[in-house]
Amino acid sequence: MTDLQGRTAVVTGAGSGLGAAIARAVAEAGANVALLDIDADAAAANASAIAEELGVTTTSARVDVGDTLSVVTAAEHVRGTLGGCDLLFANVGVQQFGAIDKLTEQDWQWVLNVNVLGMVRTVREFLDMVRAGSGSRHIVLTSSSGVLAPSIRLGAYQTSKFAVWGFAESLRQEIASEGIGVTVLFPGGMMTRHLESSVAARPPELGESVLDFDDVTAMTTHQPMADGDVATPEHAIRNLLADVAANQPYLVTHGSFRPIYEARRDAMDAAFDRMEAS
Ligand SMILES: NC(=O)c1ccc[n+]([C@@H]2O[C@H](COP(=O)([O-])OP(=O)(O)OC[C@H]3O[C@@H](n4cnc5c(N)ncnc54)[C@H](O)[C@@H]3O)[C@@H](O)[C@H]2O)c1
Repeated sequence: MTDLQGRTAVVTGAGSGLGAAIARAVAEAGANVALLDIDADAAAANASAIAEELGVTTTSARVDVGDTLSVVTAAEHVRGTLGGCDLLFANVGVQQFGAIDKLTEQDWQWVLNVNVLGMVRTVREFLDMVRAGSGSRHIVLTSSSGVLAPSIRLGAYQTSKFAVWGFAESLRQEIASEGIGVTVLFPGGMMTRHLESSVAARPPELGESVLDFDDVTAMTTHQPMADGDVATPEHAIRNLLADVAANQPYLVTHGSFRPIYEARRDAMDAAFDRMEAS
């Protein structure tokens, strides 16, 4: 078990699913933890349960990562309560299924604002605290296995998760010399509230988030799932703390999609081969 005794962690999207599991895992390793979520009640309930069961210090706050001021305010809250941030898990993501010709301008704006700019805001507003710490410090950004094995009806979401990866690559290279590591987490399918919480978190002024199950069926038909392709978040993060300690750049959680990823990697290798042969 990685020892995080006395370290301070911040987890966004900690009201549910993967973020809640990450918050619990770092607390089990001894870290004090701030749980942030647009669903303030869910974050507060998880924070209380973790503090009571594990004896670490926790705090919680509402944050909407789609809104800069909200992220600034949440960072001030963490600074004022836990006093710092050694480990930052920027984990919020929302889902909007839809075919390329059906996704609306508002769908794209919402998904890109929360999933991409939300990551950027979270890192930007917490980076000073991470920099001010000492010893091992780390930032984990949640992308998706959809980046490794893309499918259909997920255009806006997949685009956003590719952007998370791109952002993480820049971030890693920019802060490596300061002793701060960066890991990209590529979760596969998990049993969480992702679809439900996405519908709830969409700002009303952008119109309702429509979940059409035909899109889900089309996706799973296009890329059938195998046993084990949908896991619990706890199982998905079983290597997380070890990979963070080892400063691994990438963390794949589970899934049978490896051949799809390898076919894409082979196609890229072949592009290099053709270039070198010409
Ligand atoms: N569930 C999956 O199958 C799956 C697969 C790949 C990647 N992911 C990614 O994992 C991450 C966590 O998702 P999850 O599956 O745990 O879902 P979840 O719904 O259980 O948790 C997501 C949390 O984010 C919060 N949230 C939504 N919008 C927010 C906003 N604007 N500001 C702050 N908080 C907000 C929700 O209230 C919720 O508590 C996301 O980035 C998601 O895209 C999930």
